[in-house]
Amino acid sequence: MADPAVSAAPEPRRVLLKLSGEALMGENEYGIDPGVVREIASQVADAASDGTQVAIVVGGGNIFRGLAASARGMDRSTGDYMGMLATVMNGLAMQDALEQVGHPTRVMSAIAMNEICEPYIRRRAVRHLEKGRVVVMVAGTGNPYFTTDTAATLRAVEVHAQVILKATRVDGVYDADPETHPNAQRFSQIGYTELLSNRLQALDATAVSLAMDNEMPIVVFDMTVPGNIARAVRGERIGTLISGEETR
Ligand code: GTP
Repeated sequence: MADPAVSAAPEPRRVLLKLSGEALMGENEYGIDPGVVREIASQVADAASDGTQVAIVVGGGNIFRGLAASARGMDRSTGDYMGMLATVMNGLAMQDALEQVGHPTRVMSAIAMNEICEPYIRRRAVRHLEKGRVVVMVAGTGNPYFTTDTAATLRAVEVHAQVILKATRVDGVYDADPETHPNAQRFSQIGYTELLSNRLQALDATAVSLAMDNEMPIVVFDMTVPGNIARAVRGERIGTLISGEETR
């Protein structure tokens, strides 16, 4: 019998939206701003209403940063586990906000905590996406030393998303840090290898290498511009596209 998970029908658009934890804190220096989370949720729900399947990987830096804690003497793995727990809180906030605007969601965690959310099971995640649920994937990869960008890339590859949409506070990838170099130039398109060889800080090298090996394009865009999350989810060309194509 044919595998019901395999279909000959044309695949609907499926995207993986990576939200940094800092994205959820708005103007605050820490924690979750419910107004910001609600705004993100309404954009996602709006853009997903045309049938686009949306998975979200959320970071935890608004609550706890393992790397920063390890710089101040904490064991790196312990710090990273605490960071993963922070992503679960953010994921539950996203779920709450999405369901308040009427969009069904499932939260799936890389670290089992079944009383709070579902375990991440790839085939089940795909089923949820096919049913139109936004799947919020939390607890990173479940492993220390891996960033949520790497978790986002891994999950995007696993569920066969067509693109990773990395929502940040800058409007793309620059040839130098735009905050410290006012003349920095923004790329509209950049190749994986150039990003890696120039050590550009848009994403960590593990995430970029994984994306490159699996030909997974990444769009880096500014989520602080109103409506940009919806635009990115709908496939409008914004920010910088990182792919195997030549740099422009
Ligand atoms: P279908 O099989 O497509 O109907 O998926 P479903 O997610 O609606 O069904 P299921 O019975 O698996 O889940 C019903 C509800 O329970 C959903 O809100 C799930 O997110 C939740 N749920 C499922 N498994 C777990 C789990 O292990 N832990 C927790 N906390 N919730 C779960």
